[in-house]
Amino acid sequence: MSKLLEGKRGIITGALDQNSIAWKVAEKAHEHGATFVLTNAPIAMRMGEINALAEKTNSQIIPADATSVEELTNLFTQSQEVLGGKIDFVLHSIGMSVNIRKNIPYTESNYDYFAKGIDVSAMSLHKMLAVAKKLDAISDWGSVVALTYMAAQRTYPFYTDMADIKAMLESIARSFGYHYGLEKKVRINTVSQSPTKTTAGTGIKGFGDFYDYADAIAPLGNASAEDCANYCITLFSDLTRMVTMQNLFHDGGYSSTGVSNIVMEKMGIE
Ligand SMILES: NC(=O)c1ccc[n+]([C@@H]2O[C@H](COP(=O)([O-])OP(=O)(O)OC[C@H]3O[C@@H](n4cnc5c(N)ncnc54)[C@H](O)[C@@H]3O)[C@@H](O)[C@H]2O)c1
Repeated sequence: MSKLLEGKRGIITGALDQNSIAWKVAEKAHEHGATFVLTNAPIAMRMGEINALAEKTNSQIIPADATSVEELTNLFTQSQEVLGGKIDFVLHSIGMSVNIRKNIPYTESNYDYFAKGIDVSAMSLHKMLAVAKKLDAISDWGSVVALTYMAAQRTYPFYTDMADIKAMLESIARSFGYHYGLEKKVRINTVSQSPTKTTAGTGIKGFGDFYDYADAIAPLGNASAEDCANYCITLFSDLTRMVTMQNLFHDGGYSSTGVSNIVMEKMGIE
């Protein structure tokens, strides 16, 4: 297989453990010849699992809380020094809702937690892009991908405030994509991924049953984290250089399917 990211430099956020989508993206980016920096919130590194990924992919780790403009400035500055030039691709793979963690129903959302969720999971993309633009840290035709979920378009009761937060994330990708595209040809897209068994995913109440439901709806079944990583690699590559400001569904056809025969049969409807 040809190496799609040969010579490209990147920043990959969000690799917490082997199940993380970002972990798979890092492995694939390495296979495709990229060099990159791994980053995560300092607190997420306590378990130290990311060290194994850094070793495997020959990468450096630069901790940064994605809500801190100061830490993000340090991340983009240091990454360019470590990698020896401007950044060609960025993966935003960051999500956290305190309301979900604490099992608080949507209609009773705690607003401090809501604000925290927005800051960590959506505004962080704006902050990253603003920092990168100010530093002129991303190369012309560079590519930024943020991971999202279809609850931004349709209601999934258990996804609570993250539904609104993902809608904001997707909007930031479009809005910033316009400005950054016009000025520097930087492309910004969101990938709307199938339910995936990760720490963030399985933290959602009823995730296991919902995972099976989505799998039974999608003609191709749920897309795995590894499939998602492959898709991200294509978006970082020059093969997709005219794709920007899009929300791209990567879900085995789930988003276009109303109902499937498998689900009808499970309900006892012939
Ligand atoms: N798992 C799913 O079902 C699913 C489906 C669609 C989209 N997504 C999205 O994919 C992305 C990655 O999630 P995942 O499923 O791989 O789970 P994950 O738990 O492995 O990754 C989430 C990451 O966010 C990081 N993070 C949290 N707060 C942070 C902060 N303040 N600064 C920097 N990093 C911070 C965590 O440390 C963790 O590495 C998220 O945006 C998630 O919403 C997941």
